[in-house]
Amino acid sequence: MENRICKLFNIKYPIIQAGMIWCSGWELASAVSNAGGLGIIGAGSMYPDILRDQIRKCKQATPNNFAVNLPLLYPNIDEHIQIIIEEDVKTVFTSAGNPKTWTDKLKSNGITVVHVVSNLKFALKAQEAGVDAIVAEGFEAGGHNGREETTTLVLIPNIRKHISIPLIAAGGIGSGSAMAACFALGAEAVQIGSRFVATPESSAHINFKNKVVSCSEGETILTLKQLTPVRLIKNEFCNRVLDAEKKGATADELTEILGRARAKKGMFEGDLTEGELEIGQVAGNIKEIKPAAEIVYEIINEFNEVIKKLKSI
Ligand SMILES: Cc1cc2nc3c(=O)[nH]c(=O)nc-3n(C[C@H](O)[C@H](O)[C@H](O)COP(=O)(O)O)c2cc1C
Repeated sequence: MENRICKLFNIKYPIIQAGMIWCSGWELASAVSNAGGLGIIGAGSMYPDILRDQIRKCKQATPNNFAVNLPLLYPNIDEHIQIIIEEDVKTVFTSAGNPKTWTDKLKSNGITVVHVVSNLKFALKAQEAGVDAIVAEGFEAGGHNGREETTTLVLIPNIRKHISIPLIAAGGIGSGSAMAACFALGAEAVQIGSRFVATPESSAHINFKNKVVSCSEGETILTLKQLTPVRLIKNEFCNRVLDAEKKGATADELTEILGRARAKKGMFEGDLTEGELEIGQVAGNIKEIKPAAEIVYEIINEFNEVIKKLKSI
């Protein structure tokens, strides 16, 4: 395949493995890049020295391009940006913050910049800030999410209509048929998170991976909307948050229930009752833990078959 995204990132397949705190280190990113997609190291859960080490390991493990995901509200953001420049990372996906703040600096150092948005207003702002492409992430997605709750099916065609730069769809995509649907809506690539959690290469705890593949439909919910909305698997911690929200808890009260390091506890340390378990709705469709490269090939083969079938309708 050769489209604007493949050219922009110098990749074979327009499949991007999402940056994910606690789940996407160099092993996952390099496996996806070696398979012809774009792997992303999730810097949001890494101290600066760890990020540098992860970038170096990723470079050793793949000759292909890979990216770093930087949530812009991260406290060590200055140091992270410096490391990315020093280590000569070619592609950065920014999220959770204002793209105007860092895009110029990254681009003036020869870095390709992509920004993640959940609505049209932010997509237009990102385009104006000069990013090279946009990820539009719908309500189904795992992790932090938009307040508007716009689904991928509604979000992608609307953003497509209003922006001219390359568009990557995210949220609820776990198969080649879902990828084909997103291309029909105007996307030029897909960013996939949840499906890549269920891989041997993901740094997530095995308890979390096993939980993901045993999820049924309806087991996740978008919560903590007063703080930063996040889609979680319903567990004891999540149910406590939901109860508090029903009783009208304030943002301060919710912050106290959340406490510190919940995401690490759940996804990295494997505490399935008290940890924060971030995953998308598509978890209900994920049935096995599979090597990342197999997922890339399976998705691209199914995508090609679906496109062929649709031509004969
Ligand atoms: C466990 C997990 C952690 C995530 N962490 C981040 C993150 O650190 N930065 C970010 O921009 N997005 C993060 N996301 C969102 C993903 O980058 C991606 O956009 C999303 O997973 C796509 O939807 P899907 O889960 O339905 O594939 C995370 C998602 C998951 C499932």
